[in-house]
Amino acid sequence: MKAIILSGGKGTRLRPLTYTGAKQLVPVANKPILWYGIESIVAAGITEIGIIISPETGGEVKAKTGNGDRFGARITYIMQDKPLGLAHAVKVAQPFLGDSPFVMYLGDNLVESQLDMFLSKFQSQQLDALTLLCEVENPTAFGVAKVDAQGRVLQLIEKPKNPPSNLALVGVYLFSAEIHQAIANIQPSARGELEITDAIQYLIDRQQNVQSFQLKGWWLDTGKKDDLLAANQIILDSCSQLTIEGEIDATSKVSGRVHIGSGSRIINSTIRGPVTIGNNCTIKNCFIGPYSSIADDTTLVDADIEHSVILQGAKVVGIQQRIVDSLIGARATLQVAPQRPKAMRFMIGDDSHIEII
Ligand code: TTP
Repeated sequence: MKAIILSGGKGTRLRPLTYTGAKQLVPVANKPILWYGIESIVAAGITEIGIIISPETGGEVKAKTGNGDRFGARITYIMQDKPLGLAHAVKVAQPFLGDSPFVMYLGDNLVESQLDMFLSKFQSQQLDALTLLCEVENPTAFGVAKVDAQGRVLQLIEKPKNPPSNLALVGVYLFSAEIHQAIANIQPSARGELEITDAIQYLIDRQQNVQSFQLKGWWLDTGKKDDLLAANQIILDSCSQLTIEGEIDATSKVSGRVHIGSGSRIINSTIRGPVTIGNNCTIKNCFIGPYSSIADDTTLVDADIEHSVILQGAKVVGIQQRIVDSLIGARATLQVAPQRPKAMRFMIGDDSHIEII
């Protein structure tokens, strides 16, 4: 059994961050999203992993993630020249996959459940495809499956107007080598992509064994800001430790589950967990509230932050209003003059969002 993780794509929904970096490397609780997928695959006993990368962000994904040693896996990087669809990514991975059955994992998805049960169903029933499904409230926004009482998949429909069920396709699939034949026979969709749903439908239409497995735990597609913040909240909630490696001065208060990395200094501030703070950060005269993840080398002075993700090297100074539900990019600066400001001066990247509420 092998695995591929899709870490290419366009990432339009997470612009402007994805102009300069891979969305799969945006941290959730200070760890790249992609790494959760790798860890979950390795925990299921699969160590041969191919990561699909794009020319734009592949170098960064490679440099950060390495050859797999840190995960106990062997990672092969597979270049997809253009983001021509999920099934196209499988096509470019075919030389790596050979005839092996494999897990396909979308690199921006986070799934609570372990993959073991999913894998054993696939193997014991000798399936050609196993799709993971999750109940959602708004099925019109997802790829949706119509299944029979035994969980056999009858039909897959992308963003249906009249959904046949509320079961959305989660970004984790299991395939036998039959999928390559299916992909070779499908045509690009109206949006110009080779769709994995079309390839699975091809198998269904030829009476091949396509089953589903209904997820009981949570599933998050972190491709958008609010989903990423929700993922950050869930992951921080599941961390139970209080680990203080940095320094906290006598006027600061730290409560709840908090991690403070080495070389970080907390001065005259209140930190109320769950919160994770990386290494070499300076936090002075701040309130850092629940569900905040602050990456390495960040400077926060006279700021009040809650339910937010701050990327590496960002600087937030003198913001009196509480910053909530925010995602602040690497090395971004947000600063207000100490005297009552008379004007605002911006240099904001394309597709940025600033809401003063
Ligand atoms: P999506 O989130 O569906 O697509 P996207 O990354 O292009 O994002 P957006 O819709 O915001 O523009 O992709 C799911 C995952 O699969 C994600 O990790 C990117 C990856 N992917 C590839 O590796 N190759 C591809 O051709 C596509 C479409 C996605």
